[in-house]
Amino acid sequence: MENYILNKLEELRDDNLTSFHVPGHKMGKVFQKLGYKNILEKIYTLDTTEIDGTDNLHNAKEIIKESQDRSAMVFNSYKTIYLVNGTTCGIEASIMAVCNPKSKIIVNRDCHQSVINACILGDIEPVYIKSKVCKKTNIIMGVDVKNTKSVIDNNLDAKAVVLTYPTYYGRTFDLKAVCDYAHSKNIIVIVDEAHGAHLQLSDNLPKSAIEQGADIIIQSTHKTLPSFTQSSMMHIKGNRVDKNKIGAMLRFLESSSPSYVLLTSLELAVDIYDKYGIKLMEDLLSNIDNFKSKFRNNENIIIDNNMDETKIFVSLKKLGITGYELDTILREKYKIQVELSNYYGILLICTIANDEEDFIRLEKALDDLILNINKKKLLEDTNYPESIPEKVLNPRQAFYSDKKSVKLEDSVGKVSGEYIIPYPPGISLISPGEIITQEIITYIQQGVKSGMIVSGIKDVNLGCIDVIDINQNYF
Ligand SMILES: Cc1ncc(COP(=O)(O)O)c(C=O)c1O
Repeated sequence: MENYILNKLEELRDDNLTSFHVPGHKMGKVFQKLGYKNILEKIYTLDTTEIDGTDNLHNAKEIIKESQDRSAMVFNSYKTIYLVNGTTCGIEASIMAVCNPKSKIIVNRDCHQSVINACILGDIEPVYIKSKVCKKTNIIMGVDVKNTKSVIDNNLDAKAVVLTYPTYYGRTFDLKAVCDYAHSKNIIVIVDEAHGAHLQLSDNLPKSAIEQGADIIIQSTHKTLPSFTQSSMMHIKGNRVDKNKIGAMLRFLESSSPSYVLLTSLELAVDIYDKYGIKLMEDLLSNIDNFKSKFRNNENIIIDNNMDETKIFVSLKKLGITGYELDTILREKYKIQVELSNYYGILLICTIANDEEDFIRLEKALDDLILNINKKKLLEDTNYPESIPEKVLNPRQAFYSDKKSVKLEDSVGKVSGEYIIPYPPGISLISPGEIITQEIITYIQQGVKSGMIVSGIKDVNLGCIDVIDINQNYF
């Protein structure tokens, strides 16, 4: 009998890919290097459930509590909770714990889907803050602080401000100013720090949300530190939030049989972070600097300067190569796997598990590519749709409405019944309940022609979209 998943994963492993993508342990390389190999080789013998002595994640009093307490000390939080269903469940639990049905949250428009899903589950009303997008790279830059304060001023009844910090691309902003302002208005700050679990490892990286006064911070340990996929942490600071309510929500959203393999992997990631993290980060930043310096005067390549230097955005648009093409060439010809691509370039996620060899391989590949490419004509610009579509129904009303399917090109002006999410980075351009605009349809149609993948919509060929006739529904 075929073991479909196993066979493919073994094939990929044996392909010796260089990983500039998540998970942060980079195919286990860091475990081998630091002597954790023996524990992990026998990890299946540690897979257990709640029996005498193994504690219970949902009511931690013994070993899990001790491990979480150590992590709280290492990350400078007051309380740390291990998550076995990713940052996704941490975001959902914290929003639903802080809000009652019909409450309002203020959130950056480019938020992760889990924020909207929390609004559907908890009947919560999102109010969006526009995010800035770089015109040259389509990189999402984060919110503008002044604008955020003004959205707060206009929505003083909101229960929480929910912000993505840093962005997927390593962009940051003055989060402390937002936290101070929100707190002065008695509003809680929840930070989706899915891409920033590593930030406290160097003074040369932006300050973490924990250091800047956020109340609840959720980090995907598996993305930027070496833990297994799906393992994340929630850090709570201060006394503004009800920890018991968060615990209750997590019991709704996570398995009643949390994986001890994932919990062990979180503990090992903290161990590596604590014992070796600062030195490994110093080496990583030096490798990144060397890599970037090789291309500093090369006019064919653009390497974007992110505030978080561990995220590298590379564009060969001056050679007429889209990010989607570069992604494919690197994988097929040079066995380098990147995290994501957009029209203009690729994003590399570098972690303390990447070594000098990885950067040498990347440098050689780019050198070779630039040297041998036949220069094509310049890429035509595409404009990421920045304006926020008008919302007619809140996400929950839209989710439970009757829908009908129409051709994509006939959908402009209608109320969307679906998400439109270019993936990656998995940020919705339109959410259920919002009016579909021509700008969004044009962007999607252009993008798909050049290789963009769109999810959230039933018709994968993007021929049709579900829309809601608000006159046919009872709200
Ligand atoms: C910005 C952001 N937030 C949250 C998440 C969800 O994280 P997880 O995969 O740990 O559930 C992601 C996942 O890609 C993300 O990019």
